[in-house]
Amino acid sequence: MKYIQDDFKIIKNSEIQSGFYDMLVNCPSIAEKARPGQFINILCSDKPLRRPISICEIDKDSGNIRMVYQVRGEGTEWMSRLCESEIINLLGPLGNGFTIPAKSRRMAVVGGGIGTPPLLGAAKQYLADNSERSCTAVLGFRNKSAVILEEDYKAVCDTVVTTDDGSYGEHGLVTVPLESEIAKGGIDVIIACGPTPMLKAVAAVGEKHGITTFVSLEQRMGCGIGACLACACKIKLAGEETYLKVCTHGPVFNASKVVW
Ligand code: FES
Repeated sequence: MKYIQDDFKIIKNSEIQSGFYDMLVNCPSIAEKARPGQFINILCSDKPLRRPISICEIDKDSGNIRMVYQVRGEGTEWMSRLCESEIINLLGPLGNGFTIPAKSRRMAVVGGGIGTPPLLGAAKQYLADNSERSCTAVLGFRNKSAVILEEDYKAVCDTVVTTDDGSYGEHGLVTVPLESEIAKGGIDVIIACGPTPMLKAVAAVGEKHGITTFVSLEQRMGCGIGACLACACKIKLAGEETYLKVCTHGPVFNASKVVW
């Protein structure tokens, strides 16, 4: 796969919730090729390994890529201190994005925590591709202070928020409102991104109802380009279990193929 590695200018980088940042980078060459579900590898100061950050939104007209990320270590902490007009080195777009069946008319988007950003661009693209489509988002967070992108989703589609502790939205797991949405009828595809236990539970709901489900796996990565094998995950192919690389074969997989 062809990807681009270059320096680009930061348009904005602001904290949207404690520990969560919203970065906009003008990178027309990457934006032109990028699809929802792909990711970017970011050179963080002098760190030998780049940090993989999922693409939240792509604006092909302006050439801007939006990335919403959480500070989780030295690399992302370094990113959080970057300011408007500073330069950042990006490698991307990487991985395979979402490929939603053309005949789909109603999609459920299920995001958990920092897994919610990549699904926003996917939901927007899904709706933009066909005016007969509709979409519902179910977004789960630890607690009220971890809720991100709620208004962004509400601007696009019906949105239900859940929290583990009940401090905001519905109390409990995302699978409860997901089941309610499915019961209303019409959902023919589910996309999900978030912690593995949540993805496994969403995959089980999809399988139970015979709904095609795509999951974007979160996996620790090294190179991000298929060279180091750090991101191997077990997948069923033609009835056989095998290992594929999340960075190049994924991060999006049909949930029915994932060996949980
Ligand atoms: Fe190196 Fe996937 S991160 S092979």
